[in-house]
Amino acid sequence: MAGGDGGSREGVQWPEPIQRVQKLAASSLDALPEKYVRPASHRAPLNAPLANLPVIDLSGLADPRTHSSTVQQIGDACTEWGIFHAINHGIPLSLIHRVQQVSKELFDLPYEEKEVYANKPGLPVGYGSHLGASNSGTMDWSDYFFHQLRPSTSYDADSWPAKPAAYRETVAEYGKQVYSLMRMLLLAVAENLRVDFSSVEEAFGGKDGFRLGFRINYYPPCPQPALALGVSSHSDPGVLTALLQDEVGGLQVRKDGTWYSVGTTQDALVVNVADQLEIFSNGRYNSVEHQVFPNTNRVRMSWATFLGPALDSVVSPAQQLVDQQHPPLYEGSLYREYISNVFKKGNNGKSYVRSHSLNKSASTMC
Ligand code: OGA
Ligand code: NI
Repeated sequence: MAGGDGGSREGVQWPEPIQRVQKLAASSLDALPEKYVRPASHRAPLNAPLANLPVIDLSGLADPRTHSSTVQQIGDACTEWGIFHAINHGIPLSLIHRVQQVSKELFDLPYEEKEVYANKPGLPVGYGSHLGASNSGTMDWSDYFFHQLRPSTSYDADSWPAKPAAYRETVAEYGKQVYSLMRMLLLAVAENLRVDFSSVEEAFGGKDGFRLGFRINYYPPCPQPALALGVSSHSDPGVLTALLQDEVGGLQVRKDGTWYSVGTTQDALVVNVADQLEIFSNGRYNSVEHQVFPNTNRVRMSWATFLGPALDSVVSPAQQLVDQQHPPLYEGSLYREYISNVFKKGNNGKSYVRSHSLNKSASTMC
């Protein structure tokens, strides 16, 4: 079956045959299969305290009386946590519910229909269960669908499922709305960092250069959640991420070495800083390290929309944020190389952004 034998691209093979976790979970397992069992040092805490994350009302940006204080809240959240709950984000709830519905219908399709979209190592668009072609470590307890919403304006037939019938149109509309929201957030970021918006755009590849990726995560019930991770610890490689999640929960974030649980906020989006924005802000903002703790009884789904720079952007600290008192903390990096490294090696905490740090004592921290 396509994808079941570790499909190859340019001779690259998956480290082992790909198994769909949804299928595995449905096979009445008593115990977690060995390859999903994490070493004790890499397991999630069972009772992570709830993170006291800011809940930011984004409608405040449009009102002159609350604009500045909302920008300040966004900046503070990006610095302190690198993540916040966004309410009144302007994306219609009816659209969010339709995205959730078509995604459930997609994962409920027979496996043969999903396998048509099975992704290739090193090219993660499509139906996947593994990240990192050369990553032979412990597997994550999840499956996903991933496709690019920008810059391409047409449906890429290799990764945009043709069924359910409303899928493409619904997800494309959601992508448009999230993109507008991302641009609004970037305007706030520019204002907070005191950098021209045109410099922000230029840094990430120009007005039309931004990429937008969309990933549906599907976390089946896990027989021994304490031994596994739904998604292993990582920071997102791009600029900003907007995450929609259902009511099940499981997302954890790390701050000053401690893992916290994020919880769920009805109808909110979780917005987080990603690596290229940490670099651009010269470390003023924190690309938050995060992971997902699996659930024993329930399927969890989440929808991540990733704003990223153009592939040929070389992202460095903004010139306006560098002076004698604030030397550059990161070397520039070509995004094409950055992202292909992630797709090759898989999730690995904050190792990618730290490998570009010019502060070598920070880069050796784990
Ligand atoms: C991701 C991610 C978190 C979640 O897709 O990059 O971190 O809660 N997802 O599913
Ligand atoms: Ni992530």
